[in-house]
Amino acid sequence: MPQRFNKLQKRILDLKRKKRVLILAHNYQTLDIQEIADFVGDSLQLARKSAESNAHSAILFAGVRFMAEMAAILSPEVPVYIPDPKALCPLAACLDAEKIRAKKREYPGVPVVVYVNTTAEAKFEADMICTSGSAVEVVESLGVDTVLFGPDVNLADNVRKHTSVRIIDLDEEGHCYVHNKFNLDMFKSMKAKYPDSVAIAHPECPIEVQDAADMVGSTGMMAKTVAESDAKVFLIATELGMVQQLQKQHPKKKIIPVYDAAVCRQMKKHTLEKIINVLENFPEGNRVTVPEQYIPHIRTILERMNKVRGQGPTAPIDAHL
Ligand code: 13P
Ligand code: SF4
Repeated sequence: MPQRFNKLQKRILDLKRKKRVLILAHNYQTLDIQEIADFVGDSLQLARKSAESNAHSAILFAGVRFMAEMAAILSPEVPVYIPDPKALCPLAACLDAEKIRAKKREYPGVPVVVYVNTTAEAKFEADMICTSGSAVEVVESLGVDTVLFGPDVNLADNVRKHTSVRIIDLDEEGHCYVHNKFNLDMFKSMKAKYPDSVAIAHPECPIEVQDAADMVGSTGMMAKTVAESDAKVFLIATELGMVQQLQKQHPKKKIIPVYDAAVCRQMKKHTLEKIINVLENFPEGNRVTVPEQYIPHIRTILERMNKVRGQGPTAPIDAHL
């Protein structure tokens, strides 16, 4: 069925065409925002898309701030704007540069891999960046036996399951408040209710939930799995925006949230009205920039991450220890 747009959406489509703005939206955005985006995806896919934005005069990034920062780093000629500048990921906020430096002093010479959900200041301290969709490959690409990893402890547990590399947490308390709400009891009771379902969990969920799932992966991987599977019923353990997207795209499949109150308040700060404000006024307060001194190093490690998966061998690591 062709998409029907409301008045605000039509205004956005008109403005973005006239002003040549590329709209990127994360899978957790509300459906009305996903519908007007040029591309909707997970954090790795969005980072890659932002690097291909040369034909545009600006990028409007509907996601949390660290994601927009990556776009600003990978696409330096194109200004990046965020609909609500207060959309900050609390997981990213928990790991500051000093915590990383302290761990580096404790484990001299051990490379640091930070999850993309981190501030620019934290990324500057890292040797490598990973997303939920590339964490295992990134860790293995380093060719070492021990890695400092963070801030998400559940993603760290996921990596431990898939590699023999020793993973030391950069922050023993680091977690996402949305994914940490999932627990084994809710997962098991949903599975008992829908025994023929395929259960998919995000690697930010606690490890016992990941262990009970049929598949664990990034939001991009969830979209691919549901699209390619012949199964009729799916249990989804991640933020609700992803569930709503899957329900809309696969009306003949039954897509069930494992927990229907899993909402990321920070992702949901963006609205159509705030997007229109950016497209009309390009306010300086909505522009996302990264301090100059961090850019070359973060760019190098982001590009290195982008090369890890499906794009041939990884570039050699110049240790930034
Ligand atoms: P994805 O990379 O899987 O989209 O995850 C981003 C995120 O913030 C999960 O909470
Ligand atoms: Fe951060 Fe969790 Fe929201 Fe993802 S869902 S942006 S990790 S708070």
